[in-house]
Amino acid sequence: MKLFDLTGKTAVVVGGAGGLGQSIAQGLAEAGAKVLISSRKEESLKRAQEEIKAACGKDVFCYAADATDEDQVISLLNAAIEKMGKIQVLVNAQGFNKKQDALDFDISVFRQMLDANVTSFMITAKHFGRHFKENGYGKIINLSSVRGKIATKGTGNAGYCSTKGAVDMLTKQLASEYGQYGITVNAIGPNITATPMMIPVFEKRAAEAGVDVDTYLKQQGAGNPMRRMGMPEDIVGTAIFLASPASDFMTGNILYPDGGLTAIG
Ligand SMILES: NC(=O)c1ccc[n+]([C@@H]2O[C@H](COP(=O)([O-])OP(=O)(O)OC[C@H]3O[C@@H](n4cnc5c(N)ncnc54)[C@H](OP(=O)(O)O)[C@@H]3O)[C@@H](O)[C@H]2O)c1
Repeated sequence: MKLFDLTGKTAVVVGGAGGLGQSIAQGLAEAGAKVLISSRKEESLKRAQEEIKAACGKDVFCYAADATDEDQVISLLNAAIEKMGKIQVLVNAQGFNKKQDALDFDISVFRQMLDANVTSFMITAKHFGRHFKENGYGKIINLSSVRGKIATKGTGNAGYCSTKGAVDMLTKQLASEYGQYGITVNAIGPNITATPMMIPVFEKRAAEAGVDVDTYLKQQGAGNPMRRMGMPEDIVGTAIFLASPASDFMTGNILYPDGGLTAIG
């Protein structure tokens, strides 16, 4: 058996037009899988589809759906089956982070974060889980964060940290319930990662700090044991492992491609 080969596998990447989702979708396609990317905006999906084709020559399918809406997730699953046949891998890479001081947190924003960052993971895991159970095999990969385990110094992350802590426990509970059906459920906990979509954010933060982007990125990475910031390939390799037969006996784990931050956090 080729442990890391995804030839003949099919994967749906929710949030697949985002920085990490697109990188993971490309990595899974390069490892041999048929891939469908999904997010809410059709135009972002088309852009990601074209960029993946240009980067590695692989065609991926796309389907627009809001993962917080159960009916749309059912439609997504049906569309994925129609385009690719039985699905074996689900990646949840959707969500957002809005930083606000806890003392002034807008509770409607907090609720939106719970919906996008947690409830949508449950909805997809419920419906893809049913499909995986029918087939006796499946792999669910949830994008958590180091912020599910370690709080940030200072204010702003009450919403994000709570949702990522919830993703970690959802991952463990689903692993406990789904293991009997041959389904593994694991999470990836990245540190801040230099995806193409993060570059404008870095440029803004670097300008605010009065340094150039290279200096800013070096400063950001300096606190990690590995002394550098995470790159998409650091996360992609972990996703390929969790999608592949190499991880068939691993479930309920949160893997940290984080340069060692959680070791010292
Ligand atoms: N980048 C990092 O440094 C980092 C570090 C640790 C963890 N993470 C986690 O990794 C995941 C991906 O992060 P990212 O940096 O790639 O974020 P991103 O670039 O903002 O991408 C997020 C994606 O999720 C989609 N999305 C948002 N809400 C959705 C919904 N309700 N239904 C379907 N799709 C939805 C967005 O597209 P639409 O708006 O078109 O729907 C977008 O494609 C997130 O869970 C994030 O918390 C990221």
